[in-house]
Amino acid sequence: MDAPNTKTATLTVGNKTYDFPIQSGTVGPDVIDIAKLYAQSGMFTYDPGFTSTASCQSKITYIDGDAGVLEYRGYPIEQLAENGDFLETCYLLLYGELPTAAQKKDFDYRVIHHTMIHEQMARFFQGFRRDAHPMAVMVGCVGALAAFYHDSTDINDPQQRMIASMRMIAKVPTLAAMAYKYTIGQPFVYPKNSLSFAENFLHMCFAVPCEEYKINPVMADADHEQNASTSTVRIAGSSGANPFACIAAGIACLWGPAHGGANEAALNMLYGIGKVENIPDFIRKVKDKNSEVRLMGFGHRVYKNYDPRAKIMQKMCHAVLKETGHGDDPMLKVALELEKIALHDEYFISRKLYPNVDFYSGITLKAMGFPTSMFTVLFAVARTVGWISQWSEMIEDPQQKIGRPRQLYTGVTSREYVPMDKRK
Ligand code: ACO
Repeated sequence: MDAPNTKTATLTVGNKTYDFPIQSGTVGPDVIDIAKLYAQSGMFTYDPGFTSTASCQSKITYIDGDAGVLEYRGYPIEQLAENGDFLETCYLLLYGELPTAAQKKDFDYRVIHHTMIHEQMARFFQGFRRDAHPMAVMVGCVGALAAFYHDSTDINDPQQRMIASMRMIAKVPTLAAMAYKYTIGQPFVYPKNSLSFAENFLHMCFAVPCEEYKINPVMADADHEQNASTSTVRIAGSSGANPFACIAAGIACLWGPAHGGANEAALNMLYGIGKVENIPDFIRKVKDKNSEVRLMGFGHRVYKNYDPRAKIMQKMCHAVLKETGHGDDPMLKVALELEKIALHDEYFISRKLYPNVDFYSGITLKAMGFPTSMFTVLFAVARTVGWISQWSEMIEDPQQKIGRPRQLYTGVTSREYVPMDKRK
């Protein structure tokens, strides 16, 4: 049995002191448990953007941002990416252990046999404009899954939770491919059970009924601890909302350019720069506080060292460019030069701004044939398993409560209503 936790933190306010227990995780910084702060002192803590606040306990993903470490259930992601496939990582995130051969076979079978969506959902798409951003389509369609799969929305039933998880992992790629096909005016391509998960996704995106399609799959970035979209999924789920609604909320949050939308923004930035000669001028604008220009795909709230996902993605990026014959892509030249300059520039060094995963994922996905508007959708496809694993963990956590942050009110204090004819 673990030794009882005896460490405490003492807060002094004026002449009063308050003691709070300190909790230790298995690795990483300790946390001060301030749950009783308000009851004891009548005060809240103030931490916009949760820069120092742990919102939950989790056993899924560990990040050491200073050392550039990212582990799923204790396994470094480099080893998982090198040795396993995407569904193996999905199994690990969901169940906590790597699967045996028999478990893997069974899991693959279960996911693959949930990839089709209700035929009536296909008609949903007709309601969207052809030029709708596919992320808008995804937010709508993933949320709408709850209207089709009533038998997996009872969050208190572990069996239903697992079915919902399987459906999500299996059907989000199908919806993503349909969103893509719809925007380019091609017929939807149905899933093919003989293909692997990643192959099937590319097949649904790029195959057309009239031709054979040759496939070279890649998939990355399955979970990333309590980031903005995962926290959104947890907060949405904390009210007891169904899992499809929660994942739709996560997709909506991911869309923003400071989060998953950064890969689209990074590529648009590279196009904006255009050629290597324009980089110094661009860097000058980034460093100018009045310009509001940011180097997209650089910097991270947690990583103050090289993002380990960026290392994998950089390698993958080169491999994909070689495979697809885009090795001389001018955008890659701009990206590499930008990276070189930024890594040696005092502005970026002093602020510990390194390339993040989105710096390379945009170029990689472009070379694979995806339009920029699909980049964040692909991120959502890969991240769905992380969201659903974190959502399940939250539901099973006996300490789970509805998420309800406090605020520091800075508005007008109490005043009397003024009738309209007396207002100035
Ligand atoms: N380019 C230029 N300067 C930057 C950048 C950047 N990309 N990122 C941070 N800075 C600067 C800030 O201006 C600030 O400088 P100052 O101290 O002189 O005021 C300092 O670095 C700290 O930046 P913050 O905004 O306080 O850092 P925060 O942790 O809040 O932001 C974020 C992290 C949002 C990721 C930020 O680095 C950013 O906007 N990056 C570009 C967008 C991006 O690539 N997002 C993807 C993140 S990865 C993901 O979600 C999958």
